Amino acid sequence: MANLWSGRFAGEPDKAVFDWGKSLSVDRRLFDDDVTGSQAWAEALGRAGVLSEEDARTIHRGLEAVREEVHASPAMMADAADEDVHAFVERQLVARVGEPGRRLHTGRSRNEQVSLDFRLYLRRRIPLLQQRIADLVQAFVDQAERAGGAVMPSYTHLRRAQPVLTAHVWMSHAAALRRDAARLETARDECDLMPLGSGAIAGASYAIDTAWLASRLGFTRVTTNSIDTSGDRDFVASFLYACALAMTHLSRLAEDTILFTSEEFGFFELADEVATGSSLMPQKKNPDPMELVRGKAGRALGLLSGWLATMKGLPLGYNKDLQEDKSLAFEAEDTLAGCLATATAVVRTLTPRPDRMAQAASGLLLATEVADYLVGRGVSFRTAHEITGRIVRDLYEAGRDFSSLALSDWRRYDARFDESVLRAVTAEAAVAAKRTPQSTAPEAVAAAIRETRDWLDAVRR
Ligand code: ARG
Repeated sequence: MANLWSGRFAGEPDKAVFDWGKSLSVDRRLFDDDVTGSQAWAEALGRAGVLSEEDARTIHRGLEAVREEVHASPAMMADAADEDVHAFVERQLVARVGEPGRRLHTGRSRNEQVSLDFRLYLRRRIPLLQQRIADLVQAFVDQAERAGGAVMPSYTHLRRAQPVLTAHVWMSHAAALRRDAARLETARDECDLMPLGSGAIAGASYAIDTAWLASRLGFTRVTTNSIDTSGDRDFVASFLYACALAMTHLSRLAEDTILFTSEEFGFFELADEVATGSSLMPQKKNPDPMELVRGKAGRALGLLSGWLATMKGLPLGYNKDLQEDKSLAFEAEDTLAGCLATATAVVRTLTPRPDRMAQAASGLLLATEVADYLVGRGVSFRTAHEITGRIVRDLYEAGRDFSSLALSDWRRYDARFDESVLRAVTAEAAVAAKRTPQSTAPEAVAAAIRETRDWLDAVRR
């Protein structure tokens, strides 16, 4: 089978080497975008007077027929021997419409064609990832609402820090995932430049109306420099970065879920449907799905660093190295989509154990409340910290906590304690005492839930 460039060569390419360099098995995902872009290019050539109206129409219809046929029998493309999706589409077109099809590539290069196709692809696929993020955020919000006034410890250095509403913990994951949706939007915006007219590297010698072509293809801008366009895959790096950071957040969620459902923490029970057993130890209920999410995050970070490493050594303009971008980006996309769905299934079905959480949220992690209590009675924070530290040290040594102190015990440390201290030093009081909008105060968390529900409505619209 002749390929798109055989004229210059006396013989056939080495079959093994040619087959090894083919990308159709990967870039076939760009098929629809290639057809869409080629139809628009034919129209642009017609408008520029390069193609007759009739040829432009013939090409357009021919491409539509190719699209329909491939949709009806995908094996047609799966079994094809073409070098890449662009060669496949052109060969199919020429097979259908003959000579006019051989005029389609006038003034166009695969260098800009692949840039166009990939931009179109990411522009239509990123919203699907954002919808999956919304599904997970929805699961967080639902858990947060169900948690009501339940309290649990928050951790810094993985040591108990301060009591917080369980709902606040859920909403913290929601906050990170919303940044991921926004970051994907930024990557999508970076794809929003129409590259055609760049030619192979120097531009086109035909008066193509690139502004018209951009709006015809749903872009708001046109790329500004043909050399830069030819070798620019920054938008791929941005997409991989957005995926890598989203995967990082999912990995941290996975880690929290694995810890909090363990015997040691026991704050949540993992649903049977999303757990696995051990072939040897009958008692085991393992969190495999979340461990896989955590594991796949490592790979997703590698996709980004691998791509940056590929780009860094390239001279200006298109280089075939750039062909590697598709498999990395598709893997990132599939990984993120799969992990989001799995994380959503796990989060949705977690059963809280409020008794265990409340128990862990009592005790010495209320020390900040004791210090704040003294500050409320005019003591400087540093002095309050020292007094409280002494109480903590004594209690720790005695294996007790604040709840074991009678008023007389408190007053032995400082006369400014009165009977109100017995009510102030509880997890519930600690949570209710917070005053800032990003805090775990019940009103603040309720407002965050409301605001996130509004965000969900907007994203789903
Ligand atoms: N399959 C190629 C890629 O993905 C398309 C561009 C090929 N251009 C070329 N001059 N060989 O990058």
